[in-house]
Amino acid sequence: MQRKALISFLFFFIFLSASNTTTSKKHKSRNPCKSLVFYFHDIIYNGQNSKNATSAIIGSPPWGNKTILAGQNHFGDVVVFDDPITLDNNLHSPPVGRAQGFYIYDRKDYFTAWLGFSFWFNSTDHRGTLNFIGADPLNKTRDISVVGGTGDFFMSRGIATLMTDAFENEVYFRLRVDIKLYECW
Ligand SMILES: *[C@@H]1O[C@H](CO)[C@@H](O)[C@H](O)[C@H]1NC(C)=O
Ligand SMILES: *[C@@H]1O[C@H](CO)[C@@H](O)[C@H](O)[C@H]1NC(C)=O
Ligand SMILES: *[C@@H]1O[C@H](CO)[C@@H](O)[C@H](O)[C@H]1NC(C)=O
Ligand SMILES: *[C@@H]1O[C@H](CO)[C@@H](O)[C@H](O)[C@H]1NC(C)=O
Repeated sequence: MQRKALISFLFFFIFLSASNTTTSKKHKSRNPCKSLVFYFHDIIYNGQNSKNATSAIIGSPPWGNKTILAGQNHFGDVVVFDDPITLDNNLHSPPVGRAQGFYIYDRKDYFTAWLGFSFWFNSTDHRGTLNFIGADPLNKTRDISVVGGTGDFFMSRGIATLMTDAFENEVYFRLRVDIKLYECW
């Protein structure tokens, strides 16, 4: 009799602690465990700046070429980049890492791109990678997914809010990236 009572008491306790952890996890996930802000700088190849350029068109539709982004919202162009990441909006600030990956222009009747890239950190503050994917339409801010990480960001996941901080003559743009991680280790 006593044993039965003890067992049911234990079961109750296990149930209680299990439901406790699920609610606290849900609650926790609403607040980021880490927030970071970075800028990255893209210098687009324009036919003359191959030394300075940090990105290049590597695929274009049959009606375009690899020097100039194609018409019709650049549909069909694929661009690869290796851009410096800085802590402020100055291109000449010491970089804390590189943003490496590609963007694809994937809509003909509206300006939008699709991004897949990694932040590759090599600074005294952070070492490791964060990996990003998502759609990049022409909105003031757009959210993309932080799908994972390595090193200091082992198994990290979250959301990155992109904002175009500067855009100059189709040669240079700068993105502000507000990263909020909701899973940290
Ligand atoms: C690329 O296309 C642009 C726009 O159509 C054109 O002005 C330019 O001459 C082309 N460049 C090459 C290298 O074909
Ligand atoms: C990372 O940074 C360290 C220290 O500044 C440097 O020695 C090393 O070469 C860098 N690694 C790469 C792959 O850039
Ligand atoms: C992005 O901008 C378009 C056009 O202005 C608007 O219709 C759409 O709702 C916006 N999307 C988001 C997610 O804000
Ligand atoms: C490289 O491009 C950037 C952005 O357009 C510009 O500010 C900078 O002066 C250029 N540097 C060289 C050496 O051309």
